[in-house]
Amino acid sequence: MTTAATATRKTAGADPAGGADGAMKGLILSGGKGSRLRPFTYTNAKQLVPIANRPVIFYAIDQLVECGVTDIGIVVGDTAEQVKAAVGDGSAFGANVTYIPQDAPLGIAHAVKIARGFLGASPFTLYLGDNFVLGGIRPYVESFLASGCNSQILLHPVADPQSFGIAQFVDGKIARIVEKPADPPSNLAVIGVYMLDQTVFNVIEDLQPSARGELEITDALQGLIDRGLDVRAEVLDRYWIDTGKMDDILNANRMVLGTIEHRCQGEVDERSRVYEPVVLEPGSRVVNSVLRGPIIIGAGTEIIDSYIGPSTSIDHGCRIRGCRMENSVVMEDTVIEDIHWPIVQSLIGRCVELRGGHAAGGGYSLTLGDHSRIEMPDG
Ligand code: G1P
Repeated sequence: MTTAATATRKTAGADPAGGADGAMKGLILSGGKGSRLRPFTYTNAKQLVPIANRPVIFYAIDQLVECGVTDIGIVVGDTAEQVKAAVGDGSAFGANVTYIPQDAPLGIAHAVKIARGFLGASPFTLYLGDNFVLGGIRPYVESFLASGCNSQILLHPVADPQSFGIAQFVDGKIARIVEKPADPPSNLAVIGVYMLDQTVFNVIEDLQPSARGELEITDALQGLIDRGLDVRAEVLDRYWIDTGKMDDILNANRMVLGTIEHRCQGEVDERSRVYEPVVLEPGSRVVNSVLRGPIIIGAGTEIIDSYIGPSTSIDHGCRIRGCRMENSVVMEDTVIEDIHWPIVQSLIGRCVELRGGHAAGGGYSLTLGDHSRIEMPDG
């Protein structure tokens, strides 16, 4: 791990930001409605949806700390209380967290604007709390700090450029950044991790809300380019995903589980078979079941008479009995019993009860919240 001292601009003297203190800060955004992740986001922040049993925002905090960035602001909205309850004062991560309330989701650049007091004269890494980068961002933070440029963006090719901020290059230099273009100039998305200095505030002061009523970070970056400031772009060499939709969560979950190391702190009876890597947290219990890793099973969860297949995370306090399941995420305190068909590609929330063999007269008995989605097999 780097020390905080290394997260300091090497060019402090020539720092256009005049960053007297020099040490980089972190700014994580954790507001927004998360409408594409309903019903989970009715009761919780989208940044708290678990990837391998850890809220996605935890990875952003860890990755900043790994760069030596320990002074971290988190911009919070309607779900402030849940985010605070999960992250606390940051000490569990080796960080010092300051919460910055945003009254309404008025855009990423607006969040930066209201964080100005916290950021002071420091360069900073802005990390959108629902973005996920496998393997961290340390080389990019280091190259930004070493370069002395005003801003650095990270790019990743995407299949649906209409859904992202997109970069256009002219003669090898970044010339234009457009938010969700109808006619994309490239397939290179600007991911939600940005390294910035003080010059961005001058641009944001003059920014006007976009058609969707937000102060856009892409407009702020375009403003930097238009003013002739030094905006660097690097193409990310690792997996990245914006975990805004259900399939993206399952994807990120699969990728993280692909990196886990086998660790058994639970109990496995002699009738069960475990194919590594499987993480069994303390107090978990596996009875007469097959676990085919990579899998993570949370503390106190019981797996009985079941087959749990690859790429599955089951959080703490769950009871899974008489089921086949794979490529799925189950959140805490959920009970699933006697399900006849395999459960695949599923994201199942907290305190859900899913029981087979109970409904009278061969019918389904369902209590489903708004925006729930169930797909059943034929026959
Ligand atoms: C935001 C930014 C967009 C960027 C994306 C990355 O989009 O506005 O430029 O490409 O994050 O995840 P939003 O998630 O607000 O639609």
